[in-house]
Amino acid sequence: MSQPESFLDAFFRPRSIAVVGASRTPGTVGYEIVDNLLNDGFTGVVYPVNPKAVAVHSIPAYRSIADVPGPVDMAVIAVPKDLVPAALEACGLKGVRALVVITAGFREVGPAGREREQELLSIAQRYGMRMVGPNCLGVLSTAEDVRMNATFAPIMPPAGPISFMSQSGAMGVTILDYAAEYGIGIHHFVSVGNKADISGNDLLEYWAAEDATRVILMYLENFGNPAKFTRIAREVTRRKPIIAVKAGRTAAGARAASSHTGALAGVDTATDALLTQCGVIRVDSVEELFDMAMAFGQLPVPAGNRVAVVTNAGGPGIIITDACESLGLSVAELSAETQARLRENLPDEASVRNPVDMIATATPESYRLALEAVLADPNVDAAIAAFVPPLRVRQQDVARSIVEARKSQPAKPMLAVLMGRAGLPEGRADLRTAGVPGYIFPEAAARALAGMYRYRQWLERPAGSIREDEVNQGVVRRLIAEALEAGADYLERDSVLAILEAYGITTLKSARAASADEAAEAARALGLPVVLKIDSQDVVHKTDVGGVALDIRSADEVRTAFNVMVTRVREHMPDARIDGVIVERFVKGGRETIIGMSQDPSFGPVLMFGLGGIYVEALKDVTFRVQPVSDIDAREMVRSIRGVKLLEGMRGEAPSDMAAIEDAIQRVSQLVGANPQIIEMDINPFVALEKGGIAVDARIRVAAGDGVLRRA
Ligand SMILES: Nc1ncnc2c1ncn2[C@@H]1O[C@H](COP(=O)(O)OP(=O)(O)OP(=O)(O)O)[C@@H](O)[C@H]1O
Ligand SMILES: [Mg+2]
Repeated sequence: MSQPESFLDAFFRPRSIAVVGASRTPGTVGYEIVDNLLNDGFTGVVYPVNPKAVAVHSIPAYRSIADVPGPVDMAVIAVPKDLVPAALEACGLKGVRALVVITAGFREVGPAGREREQELLSIAQRYGMRMVGPNCLGVLSTAEDVRMNATFAPIMPPAGPISFMSQSGAMGVTILDYAAEYGIGIHHFVSVGNKADISGNDLLEYWAAEDATRVILMYLENFGNPAKFTRIAREVTRRKPIIAVKAGRTAAGARAASSHTGALAGVDTATDALLTQCGVIRVDSVEELFDMAMAFGQLPVPAGNRVAVVTNAGGPGIIITDACESLGLSVAELSAETQARLRENLPDEASVRNPVDMIATATPESYRLALEAVLADPNVDAAIAAFVPPLRVRQQDVARSIVEARKSQPAKPMLAVLMGRAGLPEGRADLRTAGVPGYIFPEAAARALAGMYRYRQWLERPAGSIREDEVNQGVVRRLIAEALEAGADYLERDSVLAILEAYGITTLKSARAASADEAAEAARALGLPVVLKIDSQDVVHKTDVGGVALDIRSADEVRTAFNVMVTRVREHMPDARIDGVIVERFVKGGRETIIGMSQDPSFGPVLMFGLGGIYVEALKDVTFRVQPVSDIDAREMVRSIRGVKLLEGMRGEAPSDMAAIEDAIQRVSQLVGANPQIIEMDINPFVALEKGGIAVDARIRVAAGDGVLRRA
């Protein structure tokens, strides 16, 4: 498929590069970039620009880019920050299309720097130039017909199917370094720096359409435009895996939340939710990024999660199977036929069940025969071979046998764990040439394979659709506007119920009572047993102040409960305005869940679902998704909590209506999507019955504006 024209071609396929700020001094950025371009065999022309030098790195240098004889596709800017604007003007006049601004001292240093950066952007836009950076390491392409290392990283990684974007220059250097050592084949590398112009989203769109890129790696620190990222990533991951490290799991100055959802939504929750929802494989460390990259870069995605382990020692076998099972993989049940085939070539002491432990006497040939046997087993989707060097067996010979076995079933991924130092580089080189990722530690191989299986699950996951139900948005808009007008924080109870009903979420019939007699009357009208709740706009969590009385079975009991409750709440909150109580029917049975939302400063509304009730913050059995939540997202949310078994019904209890929960989640998603003034929301509990569900208690918090809660 031919690659569509893109402005990014000028960055990845320039015919000529000018290095503005080229230097004659080794060890400087301006020198190292010229050195890398020349030494790593850039196939185009390099023009060093330096007003004081006649030559740099033995090639003619030019006083300014204007003096460069031919056209310049890309300019790498490595002059001090105050000289960058003039350099960009000169590039614009020269007709340069792509700028890579290495220089630091812009937005990352604060407001003054932000202004300087804005100036660079406007110069670039005035001349129709695009810019990577500022404050970055550079760009790199190992494509045979380009071979461009326009970075000051000392290493050109091996060529391969992985394109990599890093938001940190320093991490970029480390990652290129490791790539060479791990033999991870890189196609394109971009250090985006401050992302003033070109962002990760632009690169994702470009690499999505580019055949040579089969795997995308990202080192992220923040999302410039999360909604756009989601839209693009969801598309891309249907065809190519994206593996990302997202740094910054903790953030200072978290906001003040008063709803359960707000309290449970950690700083990083939304990031996890967002990446899950667009099929991005998130990893926690750069090391894990590499373990995954080695596997995704070389192996087919497994058809399933059934793993066979072949080893010459019990220990590693157990570690691998434990790691596999804890990561969602399963230890394959080898067929009798396979076990018989294994037994033919292995001593009696060996174990032919999975993990296959061939014991220390195993030879390279034993590995080939055993791996071919397990790979041929229809119950096996992938294999991990582990080798601990005993006496007289060379690791690189075992590596070669593993390579041979791989040829027997190329469609099934195989990973190798070589735990010996001696012969590791050689063994690894053989494995790499044959497309078998070689790890040192058993857990790393299991983690990588588990990541690949997660990607398989994503590929098999239906795309899902965002529902838009018929709702009474007019009522909702009016109620919120009135409340904001009145300066409200939390909406009044009646408004909350009306809003839920307007969006098709079932609520409980109830009545207000200002006296004990009124309460008894209301209970009689609703039908016993009932529940009494304090009726006060000042009480957020009623249970905490004795504001809930359950399962009241007589009129006298109602009167008593009324008096006790009003007294107790007054004791807890002497200044609270108490209007009386709410009387509602006592809902028997069902499972208490929570459906909620809280605004994330970067991502907007984040929905939460989990086991609910008054102990919700103790259970912490919740999961999150970024709005909009699709039908498939809702389905996964309900099935991804630890307490799902309770919803499915256990110990003879009837199952809850999961479809009713999914329906309510999607209605809340539509509600908060259409009303950005809603900043926090809890339905707790949303009682899931055998048939249907009811919102038994709910609160909605609003704020004027676009609903994004500015951090303190
Ligand atoms: N109508 C009802 N029928 C049955 N149980 C009820 C009813 N209303 C409340 N409950 C029970 O009482 C608990 C607390 O009631 P409710 O949720 O209204 O008060 P809250 O303390 O304000 O809640 P939150 O924990 O959300 O702050 C519920 O979790 C549920 O277990
Ligand atoms: Mg509640």
